[in-house]
Amino acid sequence: MRNDTLTARNLALTPELHDYLLDQGRMTPDPLLIELIELTHEAIPEQAHMTVAPEEGALLTFLVRLLGARTIVEVGTFTGYSSLCMARGLRAGGSLITCDVSAEYTDVARDFWARAQVDDRIELRLGDALDTLRALPAEPHLDLAFIDADKPGYIGYWEELAPRP
Ligand SMILES: C[S@@+](CC[C@H](N)C(=O)[O-])C[C@H]1O[C@@H](n2cnc3c(N)ncnc32)[C@H](O)[C@@H]1O
Repeated sequence: MRNDTLTARNLALTPELHDYLLDQGRMTPDPLLIELIELTHEAIPEQAHMTVAPEEGALLTFLVRLLGARTIVEVGTFTGYSSLCMARGLRAGGSLITCDVSAEYTDVARDFWARAQVDDRIELRLGDALDTLRALPAEPHLDLAFIDADKPGYIGYWEELAPRP
């Protein structure tokens, strides 16, 4: 099909449309998440941009609930925003394994998981994520995997995670 025969169906994300979506979707972070964002900016200003956007965090919580996920693996914990959001959506008895190389970043995460009372369902594995993923048992299968780490590693992470649906 030629490109010029396609109908334009995309909408520009204007500031007004963005505000409308935020209002409709209950995507505003709660006070604890706002505190985590602020603390990350204060403590690690040069890397704070790595945290997922609040809208992405809300989407992750929604997706986990939608799937009824029990078993999640995350690659790239940082200060724990995305893992906190996903853990909040887990079904009762569910668990999330999250991988990172930095004790400094993930100490912040551990503190906020405890304060959010989701620390009982999050397991942090420190070390190179590819080693962590290769050491995962074949069972149970994964309901969701979220890769948000070093970009050159993505193909390796994908190859380890994709066969585990
Ligand atoms: C984009 S940040 C993750 C952001 C996080 N998902 C959030 O929402 O706050 C990427 C993280 O990947 C970690 N990382 C980088 N290389 C890694 C590797 N080889 N194995 C595990 N983690 C790694 C970094 O230490 C960093 O914390």
